[in-house]
Amino acid sequence: MSKLATNFTGLKFVNPFILASAPPTESKRKILKAFEAGWGGVVTKTIGLHPVENVAGPKTIYQRTSEAKPYVSRMKRPDTVSHSSWNWELISDQPLEQWLPDLEEIKATYPDRMVIASIMAGTGSEEELENWKKLATAVVGVGCDALELNLSCPHMDRKDMGAHVANDEAIIRSVLEAVTSVVDVPIWVKLTPSASTIVDAAGAAYDAGAAAISTCNTFPSLPLMDPETMKFEVEVDGLVTPGGQGGLAILHQALKRVNDLHKAYPDKAISGIGGIRGFREAFNFIVHGAGNLQVCTAAMEEKGSGGVGVKLIQELCEDMTDYLDRHGYASLEEFRGIARERVVQHAQIRRKSEDYNGGFAKSA
Ligand SMILES: Cc1cc2nc3c(=O)[nH]c(=O)nc-3n(C[C@H](O)[C@H](O)[C@H](O)COP(=O)(O)O)c2cc1C
Repeated sequence: MSKLATNFTGLKFVNPFILASAPPTESKRKILKAFEAGWGGVVTKTIGLHPVENVAGPKTIYQRTSEAKPYVSRMKRPDTVSHSSWNWELISDQPLEQWLPDLEEIKATYPDRMVIASIMAGTGSEEELENWKKLATAVVGVGCDALELNLSCPHMDRKDMGAHVANDEAIIRSVLEAVTSVVDVPIWVKLTPSASTIVDAAGAAYDAGAAAISTCNTFPSLPLMDPETMKFEVEVDGLVTPGGQGGLAILHQALKRVNDLHKAYPDKAISGIGGIRGFREAFNFIVHGAGNLQVCTAAMEEKGSGGVGVKLIQELCEDMTDYLDRHGYASLEEFRGIARERVVQHAQIRRKSEDYNGGFAKSA
């Protein structure tokens, strides 16, 4: 068996690398291509029952920077490197009825790959909780291996949906209660990094039956304005609204969230997301406790791959296998979480003198 094989939330993954819920997993065609390339699983683009109509302009931009002129911009310049993605794309506009036969076919074609259906509904009423149940029952009915509850979409005006509810432990519990009452597969809960209480929110989710927390979704943010044209780098009719930043720029912040969660709940599963472009970023998520890695921006950016990261998944597998071999590890479990106890309070870091007391006056 490959050293990359992992068991995450009771599911067997041929490798720990999966495509996150986003354009790479928005259609049957792309998911089949991703599995052909070697991804261990996919989280589908979020499926919902409410009306979806995207903005009348580009939904995603890729922001780059360069050594010569190190500002961040989507503008084409020579010799640039990736900084981040920025998007204001809503969830899937493909109806559930179309997703169901597609998911069934995907699972039948690649039975050894994990298909996690991302779902989202409102939370404001019994009717909305019924929508969670309807979505969950339907996708599990066609063979999905797990669910990821999207409590993190940053683009909703509705206050009962997405990132708006991820601070509310009662709502998190009510959604989990609804979903676990109708299906028996592992439930992953995707939390927003913008919640001030991600540890408490995760605690409520685990307590209410979540098998894993997935984090991070994109960070709420604004695109830049061009000083010459006075236009935002992405706008419609001169207007913009906060969207989500992903990619390398969010890596360190995502790692902080994963470390916080792993410290608070060392025995619980975490799916790490945010800025993974290769082995080194994946490694960092693992040492902070993630048992599974999700990738979005880097796959979308890979030219010639149809936006599913064909070369990327090969490199991730090769580089991780090479690392395990060189260090004599039988699996990534052998170094998962090793950084946890090395992230400490500020006052626990050695000073040049003994005088510092965490900002408090020393008692006499
Ligand atoms: C264009 C775009 C669309 C996305 N759509 C969804 C979505 O429908 N559901 C979801 O849970 N996350 C969505 N995401 C967030 C990604 O799944 C992921 O959490 C985020 O991009 C961070 O990962 P990255 O740094 O590898 O891009 C989207 C991201 C992008 C860039």
